[in-house]
Amino acid sequence: MHDTGRAEGNCLATRGVDEMEKSPEEQTDFERLAERALSRRAVLGGGVAFGAAAFVAGAGALKPLAVLANSSRFGFEPVPANTLDTVTVPKGYRWHVVARWGDPLWSDGAEFDPETRGTGASQERAFGDNNDGMALFTHRGRNVLAVNNEYVNRKIIYPAGKPETADDVRKGKAGHGVSVVEIAQRGGRWAIVRDSPFNRRITADTPMEITGPARGHALLGTAADPEGVRSLGTWNDCGNGRTPWGTYLACEENFNGYFSSSDPDLEIGPAFERYGIGLKDWGYAWASADERFDIVKHPNEPNRAGYIVEIDPLDPASTPRKRTALGRFKHENAELALADDGRAVVYMGDDERGEFLYKFVSDGRYVEGGDNADLLESGKLFAAKFADGGRGEWIGLTPEATGMASQAEICIHTRMAASAVGATTMDRPEWVAANPKKAEVYCCLTNNKNRGKKPNKGGDPTPVGGPNPRAGNLYGQIVRWRPDSGDHLATGFAWDLYVVAGNPTVHTGADAGSKNVTADNMFNSPDGLAFDGNGMLWIQTDGKYTDKDGFAGQGNNQMLVGDPATGEIRRFMVGPKECEVTGFAWSRDRRTLFVGIQHPGEKGNSHFPDGGNSVPRSAVIAIGREDGGLIG
Ligand code: FEO
Ligand code: CA
Ligand code: CA
Repeated sequence: MHDTGRAEGNCLATRGVDEMEKSPEEQTDFERLAERALSRRAVLGGGVAFGAAAFVAGAGALKPLAVLANSSRFGFEPVPANTLDTVTVPKGYRWHVVARWGDPLWSDGAEFDPETRGTGASQERAFGDNNDGMALFTHRGRNVLAVNNEYVNRKIIYPAGKPETADDVRKGKAGHGVSVVEIAQRGGRWAIVRDSPFNRRITADTPMEITGPARGHALLGTAADPEGVRSLGTWNDCGNGRTPWGTYLACEENFNGYFSSSDPDLEIGPAFERYGIGLKDWGYAWASADERFDIVKHPNEPNRAGYIVEIDPLDPASTPRKRTALGRFKHENAELALADDGRAVVYMGDDERGEFLYKFVSDGRYVEGGDNADLLESGKLFAAKFADGGRGEWIGLTPEATGMASQAEICIHTRMAASAVGATTMDRPEWVAANPKKAEVYCCLTNNKNRGKKPNKGGDPTPVGGPNPRAGNLYGQIVRWRPDSGDHLATGFAWDLYVVAGNPTVHTGADAGSKNVTADNMFNSPDGLAFDGNGMLWIQTDGKYTDKDGFAGQGNNQMLVGDPATGEIRRFMVGPKECEVTGFAWSRDRRTLFVGIQHPGEKGNSHFPDGGNSVPRSAVIAIGREDGGLIG
């Protein structure tokens, strides 16, 4: 989803950060690499000052990009930027559509109707709208794709451009959630297996169990569920995660935009303010047909959203579990890495301007083939604090450290807990991805026009510096860190910036981007992020597609591949008009890469994927090589 963060106020005091710089003798290889790779344009670009301390002093020489390109681990020729209304892949690759919004998952579901664009009943039997994060599960030779349906494009799904009836609301709620769908290859093309016993729609009305520290807390009790243990539905699930024990993680992001108040004078308290819950919703009108979205009548309902939801994709009868131990915020994705001792470590971003980066560490240990079902039920939660100079620290969110009454309260009011410990306000943390080849983790910081200008919603200052080096950041950057001793349990880490996005054809200063950004690979607003099995980093964008002014030459949203070792980045794919590219999954044989095309034509200028005069539809596509070779 595009910018939704709104910060108010004018406090800009600079918070002090701990200095944790090491002497050169103590530097790790990673830190030396970081300095070399990331000094870039600041050092080589003709003395351009790059603001704050993002670029470590005394940086060594950077390898010229021509040298980097020669040591290529890329199996494709780069794709030029474009503004076409289709998907563009490299020479020797091809793509096709697998599933579109409104495609029925069962033969008793209605075919998509471009006139009405479906009803509540048809949408409940069909693939949801605005597909985002996804994961593919292979079970006894069958392929089950779990896909988030983040939100609905009201201007597209409703012929009137907005919901007007109770059935419109029913359709909107059913367009959200998660689609679990078996897919199979026939004649070289992947397609939905209608009537598969694995097919399932999880919507804003599906019963969920609340687990973890906040389960049963008074702040979660409602008229329908006084105990605070069982809620209905999930919505605005953005990026995703998957666990080694075979479950899917849906991540509730802008959950606030669905609540409204039947009392226009209701006073909004600080806890609601912090999460953007207010008098009005964002146009979904859910409270008009379902009073649990009216915060006057059901003031605790918003406390039951904003969590990670764990789903068993192979058991359609299973109850999804809201994992409150992983905190409540505007979750982007949930990247799980196993520590050496088997504990599950989950890295998570909170995508709003000036919000934080989090880490969860399970109490229990993963045992292959064992009972891991409740590993995400209890553990420790941390927020990241970055220091200038390339060091950082995970600060535990405990009652002692935060001054909050209980772990339950920390898991409900997580943003306030992280503010209390002085976590670093970030430029909208989107997806996190852990390198499968080593203990190294990356996060897209998509952009933040408020950086250095406005505090976050909690009043925390957003000083320019550290991993957020540009005031009014329009292009975004990718930060990476390496836990000390290569151990995901470590609380200390070294960090650097893998890439600072920009436009070197328009700008010469900081907005030209880092040295590994060129006229040929430039992009803005990195969002989706995932490693392939070869340790290459795939980057998807959700940014400005005007192709004008500061974004001239960048074309539509796109997908790129980065080599973590050299810093080289190549464009692999360009999406259709007015889409964002989001969500990845590889087939088990690594010969197909599934990618999400979300909200093509969100401003009315696309007919993707069916062309002609058709209604634009979000879709999952499959990309393969013409020679049947491996992708990543
Ligand atoms: Fe739904 Fe942060 O993107
Ligand atoms: Ca996103
Ligand atoms: Ca985004």
